Amino acid sequence: MSQGKFITLEGIDGAGKSTQLAWIADFLQRRGVNVVVTREPGGTQLGEKMRALLLDTRLTMHPETEVLLMFAARREHLDKVIFPALARGDWVVSDRFTDASFAYQGGGRQVNSTKLENLEQWVQGVFQPDLTLYFDVSVALGQQRTASIKPADRFEQEQTEFFQRTRAAYLTRVEKYPERIHLIDASRPLQKVHEAVRDTLEILFFQK
Ligand code: TMP
Repeated sequence: MSQGKFITLEGIDGAGKSTQLAWIADFLQRRGVNVVVTREPGGTQLGEKMRALLLDTRLTMHPETEVLLMFAARREHLDKVIFPALARGDWVVSDRFTDASFAYQGGGRQVNSTKLENLEQWVQGVFQPDLTLYFDVSVALGQQRTASIKPADRFEQEQTEFFQRTRAAYLTRVEKYPERIHLIDASRPLQKVHEAVRDTLEILFFQK
């Protein structure tokens, strides 16, 4: 479709994606790449409003409503941000994408995966990230890191079992899509995680 690359970052809450995101954007820019940094749910005006609803602790919603909102926001994100950027030749780095729906809604909320696959097919067809970096931490470490940051959102306030199912679903996807999804052990010191990310990016995209 274009020379732009689509890179997504995944992991349970507290895996340290956000720190890595800024570092990756900087790394790519230094190599002369135009980078668009974005996130899900969100990344567009409408998507950010949906994000606010999805994270609001005062709201309850049916798990399938949650799925539909995630994919509605994604449809908008693809149309307004991701596809136009890739068509320009820019690289897009997104804090989460469809793997998060399979992990959180499929694993965490136990929504039937065929329903998720149908929505995935509807919303994005065969389009997939060129690379997904999955930052793996134990549930205990993830919870320890999020506890100290800010008040918990609607997902962060979930119980340990929810995150265990979410992490297990991520690990299943790592096994299912070994070419696309690269597991990074994010329990290590920050510098080591940066090095692992750098090595992956170098090998995949910058080796002559
Ligand atoms: P963030 O904390 O990484 O910004 O993401 C917000 C929350 O949204 C996070 O707890 C995971 C959740 N989420 C899903 O449950 N399904 C999805 O498809 C996406 C993109 C995010």
